Amino acid sequence: MNALSVMPVVLCLLIIFVYFYPSECLDFKYHNNKELERVMRNFSVITKNIHTNLYSIGRSTNGLPLWVMEVSGSKTARSDLPNIKFVANIHGNEAVGRELLLHFMEYLRDNYGKDPSVSCLLDNSRIHLLPSLNPDGFSISTEGQCVGEHGRLNGVNGNMEDLNRNFPDYFHQDLNPRQPETEAVMAWMDKIPFVLSAGLHGGAMVANYPFDSEKVTKSTPEKFPSLTPDNDVFQHLARTYARNHPKMKIGLCEDDTKPQTPYFEDGITNGAAWYSFTGGMQDYNYFKKGCMEITLEISCCKYPLPQELKKLWEQNKQSLLSYSLEALKGVSGQIFDSSDERPIENANIEIIGRNMTFKSSQNGYFWRILLPGSYQLKVEAVGYYPKIVPFEVRDQTGINCPTNTKLLIFLINATTPMSAALQGSEPTGGSGVSCTPCVEGAYTE
Ligand SMILES: *[C@@H]1O[C@H](CO)[C@@H](O)[C@H](O)[C@H]1NC(C)=O
Ligand SMILES: *[C@@H]1O[C@H](CO)[C@@H](O)[C@H](O)[C@H]1NC(C)=O
Ligand SMILES: *[C@@H]1O[C@H](CO)[C@@H](O)[C@H](O)[C@H]1NC(C)=O
Ligand SMILES: [Zn+2]
Repeated sequence: MNALSVMPVVLCLLIIFVYFYPSECLDFKYHNNKELERVMRNFSVITKNIHTNLYSIGRSTNGLPLWVMEVSGSKTARSDLPNIKFVANIHGNEAVGRELLLHFMEYLRDNYGKDPSVSCLLDNSRIHLLPSLNPDGFSISTEGQCVGEHGRLNGVNGNMEDLNRNFPDYFHQDLNPRQPETEAVMAWMDKIPFVLSAGLHGGAMVANYPFDSEKVTKSTPEKFPSLTPDNDVFQHLARTYARNHPKMKIGLCEDDTKPQTPYFEDGITNGAAWYSFTGGMQDYNYFKKGCMEITLEISCCKYPLPQELKKLWEQNKQSLLSYSLEALKGVSGQIFDSSDERPIENANIEIIGRNMTFKSSQNGYFWRILLPGSYQLKVEAVGYYPKIVPFEVRDQTGINCPTNTKLLIFLINATTPMSAALQGSEPTGGSGVSCTPCVEGAYTE
């Protein structure tokens, strides 16, 4: 056997080695749609220290898969953990978020078990990252193009729509034909009870919170806020992101020499107070699916040169982490039938004084982010007496790994005579129920 004959074997081994050698670090560059898929596949194959789950929520108008990476510290997908999502590249030419989510994915893995905040987050939630909702638009967008609309819409060469104007609206009838990307997000949200979310955009530097839509569109140039019943929570969430972002919080673009115009105090704004529109994704998340979503404008330049990406990642890293940890706050719980302890799904839940109901999920779970304080929660389900449960949300200031208030709620079958219900057919012991039977209206205790 001569040297020449082993050469191909050596070469082949070398190629295999290079091919499978785990890449330590993701490059700071833009990954095209094929590369994005490859990076995500590599990640799920290579990652061993945390749970990963790569899945697609559907296909774009032009047939490209919409990849999501789920990461969690837990080895199994636990349905009692809150689900968080981040969605980027909704507008195809707003490209920064697309790369940031890939870096966030790596960051979470690489710091799990090292950084207590990352461990806390991954041990207590499931994070779903969708780097590109609009791979079609991205494919025709131009690196370095800071302004303009080229690549913004989906389905290039076909029926093109603005995906962030394409969701059912809280105040108005929707007019634009629903796009496959939009349908995919809606079906995704039907399947997973998301608690907290953010959409990542570019072209400005601000954290924007619902509503984007307003009840009556005014014809004056003056803008008016359109606030939700959870405005305190939304402001807090937007502030959490902005406060941890060195430029956003002081009204600068990613580049120190350029101010964000208009100036937004604390780096946050209500959507309609800036400019209102219908069919936005964040409004839909909130009113339809009970998920707190805000819109993050993270770079004044929509598609900056790749040399800028490292700086942009550094600017957003702590914000992404701190924002995510907010999902662990507030209240959560599970709703059961008191007679057989069957979980009740699809119960209507309302935090009294906040006129916006949300629903329990498949196993009777629910989550709601709330600021510290005293609250009452009202639960209604078909065939049961309604119930009001008072509870407290404790202040988590200075606590590294936040925890929420957990409630176990037992509803009494409406065929049970009121007298028997009054005596309380509730299971007792070890449940941590924060309320004895206290049914609205008819009687309270
Ligand atoms: C992913 O894996 C492919 C082949 O396995 C390799 O060519 C590529 O460099 C890897 N990319 C990253 C970012 O890990
Ligand atoms: C609650 O919201 C619904 C739907 O927007 C509205 O019809 C109703 O008047 C509101 N109720 C209160 C008490 O504000
Ligand atoms: C309530 O109890 C009745 C009688 O046992 C039963 O038929 C009915 O299905 C129960 N309702 C619910 C919502 O479980
Ligand atoms: Zn945008």
